[in-house]
Amino acid sequence: MPTALRLLIVEDNEDDAQLILRELRRGDYAPDHLRVDNGPDMERALVTRDWDVIISDFALPSFSGAAALELIKWRGVDVPFLIVSGAIGEETAVAAMKAGAHDYVMKSALGRLVPAVRRELQEAEVRRSRRQAEIALRNAHRRLQALSSRMMQIQETERRGIARELHDEIGQALTAVKINLQALLPRSDGLRPVAQIEDSLRIVEGALEQVRNLSLDLRPSQLDDLGLQPALRWYLDRQARRAGLSVQFSGDPLPERLHPDVETACFRICQEALTNVLRHAGAKRVGVELRRGDEGLELVVEDDGKGFDVAAAQQRATAGGSLGLVGMQERAALAGGRLELSSAQGRGTRVRACFPLTLYTDEPALHGGRVGA
Ligand SMILES: Nc1ncnc2c1ncn2[C@@H]1O[C@H](COP(=O)(O)OP(=O)(O)OP(=O)(O)O)[C@@H](O)[C@H]1O
Ligand SMILES: [Mg+2]
Repeated sequence: MPTALRLLIVEDNEDDAQLILRELRRGDYAPDHLRVDNGPDMERALVTRDWDVIISDFALPSFSGAAALELIKWRGVDVPFLIVSGAIGEETAVAAMKAGAHDYVMKSALGRLVPAVRRELQEAEVRRSRRQAEIALRNAHRRLQALSSRMMQIQETERRGIARELHDEIGQALTAVKINLQALLPRSDGLRPVAQIEDSLRIVEGALEQVRNLSLDLRPSQLDDLGLQPALRWYLDRQARRAGLSVQFSGDPLPERLHPDVETACFRICQEALTNVLRHAGAKRVGVELRRGDEGLELVVEDDGKGFDVAAAQQRATAGGSLGLVGMQERAALAGGRLELSSAQGRGTRVRACFPLTLYTDEPALHGGRVGA
């Protein structure tokens, strides 16, 4: 089966173009070609179509190989460019290669054309994959930078919050208790100040509740003590009550404890997904499922809210605009899994994360380092 080849020929002589086409067909190519012989036509050809190879004569009556190369450079096109010419001196050929031509072939030695085209196509493919890898690397790097700088911001915000609560709530509560206790010091009349003791007890109870909430918000002990499913049930229940929202949780029983990194990643993804629902969705109902699926452990968080344009939000996130979606993706990937987002304006949102079902005993579980919580 001949290989399709989108070929742009820069040549004023139709017979010479036919010779090139015949040679390529003999080399098992099926060229789909366009012949141009001047600058404006060539520019139009570059703008309107994609080409696999450009083969150009060197000297044309109103155009030249050098001008064609200039045009390609100016348009930023990376397509193998071969000069096929009848008369080209060695110096001119070297100058053309310096200007960006990939090879040159004499019309009198057209047998070299097919191997040259084949080699240049392969090299162009290598260049293309390298460019894609570089772009992917740059994007990953940008996401990582955004992630770590945002992580630090979040950490600071959390620390500020904890410091304020400790100072305003617990510090003041304990100060009040201290004053009350000072009043309990032996009195000359020997009477015990019951009201102050009762007040102190109330204050201590309030302070204990504050400490408990603070520590649960930071990291629920259920996650470490009981495992993912009970921790999720407890968390969803608590958030639903706080927000006055209906959250349905359903899950297959998971008999074994999973690897802590998978449990943490899954819990934090669910936390972010639910926070997003509460912040952005305006939903009436949220469904959370935790199951064993074909791909291992599967978490689905689905809401019936207003939905959003996922591609646009992801673009904003990559530019450092927000971090929730990127963070969920990074967490899933770090735990060896993956995350899918589907949403559309007015049609709710579905976040699905899959993780390998790695048990606690199967070390090592992680792909790319530990996931801290
Ligand atoms: N369940 C949802 N329903 C509607 N819109 C959503 C939902 N989840 C995310 N979005 C949209 O996607 C955007 C990006 O979400 P992301 O979690 O990355 O950022 P954020 O919640 O705005 O900020 P943060 O970085 O603090 O999480 C949100 O600003 C919101 O517009
Ligand atoms: Mg968010």
